Amino acid sequence: MTDRAIVSSLYDSMKLPTIVAPMFLISGPDLVIAAAKAGIIGCFPTPNARTINDLEEWLEKIKSELKGTKQEGMWAINMIVHKSYDRFEAEMALVERYKPKFVVTALGSPTRVLDRVHAFGGKVFADVINMEQAKKAIAAGVDGLILVCSGAGGHTGKYSPFSFVEEVRRFYDGPLIVGGAMQSARSIAALIALGADFAYMGTRFIGCPESLVVDEYRDMLVSSSMDDVVTSDVVSGVMANWLKASLSKAGFDLKSKKGSTEIDFSDIQGEGKAWKDTWGAGHGVSATQNIETVKEIVDSLVDEFALLQPNLANELSRWPKFLKDNNND
Ligand SMILES: Cc1cc2nc3c(=O)[nH]c(=O)nc-3n(C[C@H](O)[C@H](O)[C@H](O)COP(=O)(O)O)c2cc1C
Repeated sequence: MTDRAIVSSLYDSMKLPTIVAPMFLISGPDLVIAAAKAGIIGCFPTPNARTINDLEEWLEKIKSELKGTKQEGMWAINMIVHKSYDRFEAEMALVERYKPKFVVTALGSPTRVLDRVHAFGGKVFADVINMEQAKKAIAAGVDGLILVCSGAGGHTGKYSPFSFVEEVRRFYDGPLIVGGAMQSARSIAALIALGADFAYMGTRFIGCPESLVVDEYRDMLVSSSMDDVVTSDVVSGVMANWLKASLSKAGFDLKSKKGSTEIDFSDIQGEGKAWKDTWGAGHGVSATQNIETVKEIVDSLVDEFALLQPNLANELSRWPKFLKDNNND
């Protein structure tokens, strides 16, 4: 299958070109199943399952709930491929058994999983935050790129999607997924106009009843706007976007610099303790105005899209006219 054929075949089975991005301590099987059933793709990070047995149960649940439906393959798994992550081999064995259609790699080289995922017919998408990582991932042979841009919740990127997509598209025409403050049908349409293929939406889905978060987190999302989001490395040593109020509540001093250049996943559950009380969110947080199910969000995005389409076509069609009018002056 060619790169563009992967995108077309996914479009055929999706209601919107959107993926629910994997989020630490937030996405579990219910969110993934709800996303697939609503007509988009769901994804979860493997460390969210506390043990390997839990992970197996989650995979079994996702497989069996979607079996025989049109959405059977519309889910993905997000693996940590960093060398310090000691559950890698055990997780890889489960991935080979449950054969997700997509594996998303984060924070490390995708090389470690490529051959093994390709062997069962799966596709590998690598999450990247700069051109160096993008070029390395393409050279390694990934099937698609996820560009994490500025404004993304959790570990964030620093580049604007306007520059990142343009630079990548100069040499790559494969599947391109873009994350960072994507929140509405307008955001998705803008990405398509830029030349990307799918939106990667995290923050928009954190508050859903199908997520694993506590209600206070949901309440904080509803009452927050982008000024309430702060970019800081105080929690994990890596720059991430957080709800400011949750950091203060958890006792973090935003002026202290805890930054580190070494990433270490050997104690991800220990790291989880920090993330449990500090709540991540991206610049698109104000799109969460109330608590809606995944299906309600997807249906409202689809409705927005239907309204947007003729308006956008109308607006765009004015530009050649303006040019013509100017030429007539
Ligand atoms: C609280 C939180 C936790 C996250 N955890 C992960 C993670 O475990 N693995 C990962 O690859 N990305 C993680 N992300 C990043 C998302 O996958 C995605 O890049 C981001 O949510 C997109 O931006 P948005 O939140 O503005 O939609 C996380 C994001 C948030 C908000």
